[in-house]
Formats: sequence, C-alpha cells, structure tokens
Amino acid sequence: MLKNIILMGPPGAGKGTQAKKLVSEFNLVHISTGDMFRDAIKAGTELGLMAQSYINRGDLVPDEVTIGIVKERLAMEDCASGFLLDGFPRTIPQAEALEKIGQEISRPIDVVINIDCDKNELIRRISGRRVCKNCGAPYHVDTMKPKVDGVCDICGGPLYQRKDDNKDALEVRLGHYVNQTKPLLDYYQNKGLLKTFDGSIGSDVLFDDLTKLIRGQK
Ligand code: AP5
Repeated sequence: MLKNIILMGPPGAGKGTQAKKLVSEFNLVHISTGDMFRDAIKAGTELGLMAQSYINRGDLVPDEVTIGIVKERLAMEDCASGFLLDGFPRTIPQAEALEKIGQEISRPIDVVINIDCDKNELIRRISGRRVCKNCGAPYHVDTMKPKVDGVCDICGGPLYQRKDDNKDALEVRLGHYVNQTKPLLDYYQNKGLLKTFDGSIGSDVLFDDLTKLIRGQK
C-alpha cells in the first residue's frame, strides 16, 4: 500500500472531498494546510492573524510560514504510519523543502495524485460550496446537498460559505494555481511520482479509482 501521499489540484477540484474519505479508509493522517490556517484563524492565534489577510484575498501564505507548520506536523509520531498532504506543496520552494524534510525524517513521498478539472466546473463548484463549521465536510448547494438544509450530515454542525469562495478571490487563487502550483506537475512527473485523475467524474467513482491506486491495484 502507498502510504505517504500528496493530493494536488486546482481550487475546487475535490481535494478536500476525497482526502476526508481516503484518510478514513486507509487510516492516514490528513494534513491540509488550508484547514490548519482556518483553524488558526478561528482560534485567533498569531499564525491565524497573519494568514487571514492572505487567505481572504486568495493569495498564498508565505513559503517560510507554510513550510514551518508542515515540517512540525510531519515529524509527529502519528505520521509514521502514513499521511496525506492536501494543498501542500503549492510552490517549487515548498516541494524542494518537502523533499529535504522527507529525507531527514525518513518519510519520503510514495505518490502524487493530481485531480484535474476544467475552469468552468471549478467556478461552479466553488461558488456553490458550503462547508461545515465544525468538521469541515464540504457540500454543494445543487449537487452535494445535505439531508437537512444548512446542517452537516456527519456532525450536525452549521454550514457556511468560506470568505475566499467569492469571484474575486477565486480568480486570484486560480492565477496562483496556474503560475506557481501547476509547474509542480512537471517536477513530480520527472520524479516518476505523478498520477493524474479526471476530477469531473462523480465523487464516488473517483474515490474507487484512488483507492485502487493506493492499494497498488492500478
Ligand atoms: P485550501 O483550503 O487548500 O483551498 P484550495 O486549494 O483552494 O482548495 P479548495 O478547498 O477550495 O478545494 P478542494 O479541491 O478541496 O475542493 P472540495 O473538495 O472542497 O487553501 C485555502 C487557502 O489557504 C489558499 O488560497 C492559501 O491562501 C492558503 N494555503 C493553503 N495551503 C497553502 C500552501 N501550501 N501555501 C500557501 N498558502 C496556502 O470541493 C469543492 C466543491 O465541489 C464542494 O462543494 C464539493 O461538494 C464539490 N465536489 C467535490 N468533488 C466533486 C465531484 N467529483 N463532483 C461534483 N462536485 C464535487
């Protein structure tokens, strides 16, 4: 089984949706830098106050900050049995730092999963996304509705719209994806680690494909 995994893709491709199911299926540690920043914002920590303005505008949080929090998290004992990085790395310096960290702690990356999706579908997904305030589970107002309007199926928490899920911030996020994150696809392709999947197919079908890959059946 592949156990140290990177999940990549543009904003709205379905990284968070798949990550939540995969970590539960394979008992992996879910390391989402976006969630870590949002938790810090909610808790009002120094990190949260710093990250807030970048995130709300759709800009990337500076590399040294992001690399620092991931390095600390990856070194924790629970990551020894496997982890799934969701939204990290997003720049070449982050990828180079991750490679160095992996060597230092003997936890190298086994596979990089890229979820691809076209821009119109990304805009549709992001503009209709609602997220649980308690557990972070993602929903969509048209295509992934909760059973009870405004209430999370999993934990009963209230659903809300993220501050960076608006037209202006999304344009900025997509721009950063194209200019800074997309070059990582070649970086990982050259290392023989990249596997690309079509994210526009149904969420359950994609999950089946990803589980086969992780089990080594694909
Ligand atoms: P982050 O939280 O990582 O956001 P993102 O990459 O923009 O990705 P999203 O969470 O928007 O989308 P997703 O791919 O997870 O899609 P989801 O599954 O929710 O980062 C936020 C911010 O934090 C960044 O902009 C930056 O400021 C900062 N940050 C984070 N990491 C950083 C880093 N490494 N360096 C610097 N800064 C960093 O799905 C979207 C919607 O589509 C949902 O409504 C869902 O229900 C629906 N959906 C999902 N799958 C399907 C499907 N197959 N079919 C139909 N609908 C689907």
